[in-house]
Amino acid sequence: MVKILSVVGARPQFIKAAPVSRALRQAGIDEVLIHTGQHYDANMSDIFFDELGIPQPWANLNVGSGSHAEQTAHMLLKLEPLMVQHAPDAVLVYGDTNSTLAGALVAAKLGFKLAHVEAGLRSFNRTMPEEHNRVLTDHSADLLFCPTQNAVNLLAREGITRGVYMVGDTMFDAVLQFGDLARQRSTILQDLGLEAKNYLLATVHRPYNTDVPDNLSAIVCALADSGQTVVFPVHPRTRQRLPALNAPNLRLIEPLGYLDMLLLEQQARCILTDSGGVQKEAYFFGVPCLTLRPETEWIETLEGGWNVLVGADYARILTQLQAEAPQGVPPAVFGDGHAAQRIASILLEVLA
Ligand code: UD1
Ligand code: UDP
Repeated sequence: MVKILSVVGARPQFIKAAPVSRALRQAGIDEVLIHTGQHYDANMSDIFFDELGIPQPWANLNVGSGSHAEQTAHMLLKLEPLMVQHAPDAVLVYGDTNSTLAGALVAAKLGFKLAHVEAGLRSFNRTMPEEHNRVLTDHSADLLFCPTQNAVNLLAREGITRGVYMVGDTMFDAVLQFGDLARQRSTILQDLGLEAKNYLLATVHRPYNTDVPDNLSAIVCALADSGQTVVFPVHPRTRQRLPALNAPNLRLIEPLGYLDMLLLEQQARCILTDSGGVQKEAYFFGVPCLTLRPETEWIETLEGGWNVLVGADYARILTQLQAEAPQGVPPAVFGDGHAAQRIASILLEVLA
């Protein structure tokens, strides 16, 4: 039986991993799931395991928060003996967080095959911690599962062509698998007293925005001055830094579960975010998105004006909120909703 050791640790990784974990089980692959504990609040971690039916991790390393070196070093120390103990046929890592890099480094140094889901993404902005995690992980990986053709092309430019597979985006799989359930189960619109298509949805958590007071203040002031109801589920990183503001239209709430988030995204008039995953979900649902960053890895979403880069620029945010929304539906460029099954089949074929 093929044995995979998967490493997850942060909110977007639970969502990326859910369809893959299910597909591995269906393919008869034995999965040992390790949670690094990078995210640990119940609404940043447990809720996703419950809602998405992800099996309980074999171990939680409880590394918690810290500086990059501290957090990554704790992960390295705790992952190594577990990988030695389980001796998997391959180690699977997701996305671009410190948990991704730690899983990749330990696997590569121990000589285990390394598979990277969401390979080939680049912002070309080396001030982002994630950019280092992406580049280092891709250059250590044996199997690179790309969500888009653009990701395949970017890897080729760096000389990586072996073991590269265009499989589609597992976050698109997740939206297709859980979108209906969200519509059936979530009561978030009633709970918050919202009318469909009559509010904005905002998320902010990038250091570029949270750790630069002028940027956070420009974003929050633009939201406050938008004249529209803004629902803003606040990431714990951002909570500590938000300026005090008297703006009754700004609804600051705790981070949401996935089903509530999906419903709020589908029904929003426009989404404002610096999140990678939320930009894509806006695109999947055909909801206009303003990205609160100077650049994006997900350049496909910019086509047709579905996503517009506004940075942390007060005036641009307010101007773009007045712009006309694109018409029709965005082209399907993130696969066919079966990325996870493709990943499981390739792992079986290569490792069996
Ligand atoms: C991390 C990832 C980022 C990803 C994001 C998803 C890295 C370098 N960054 O950023 O790529 O987009 O997750 O959400 O891996 N905190 C809590 N409770 C928690 C988790 C965090 O209070 O459950 C607070 C702590 O004060 C912590 C801060 O949030 O210091 C930042 O957490 P951390 O995991 O280091 O980075 P994120 O900003 O969440
Ligand atoms: N998300 C959620 N609740 C929230 C905010 C985000 O469930 O309050 C989901 C969102 O739908 C997407 C993922 O978390 O699937 C994105 O994660 P995040 O923004 O934390 O990280 P990024 O994608 O930027 O790495």
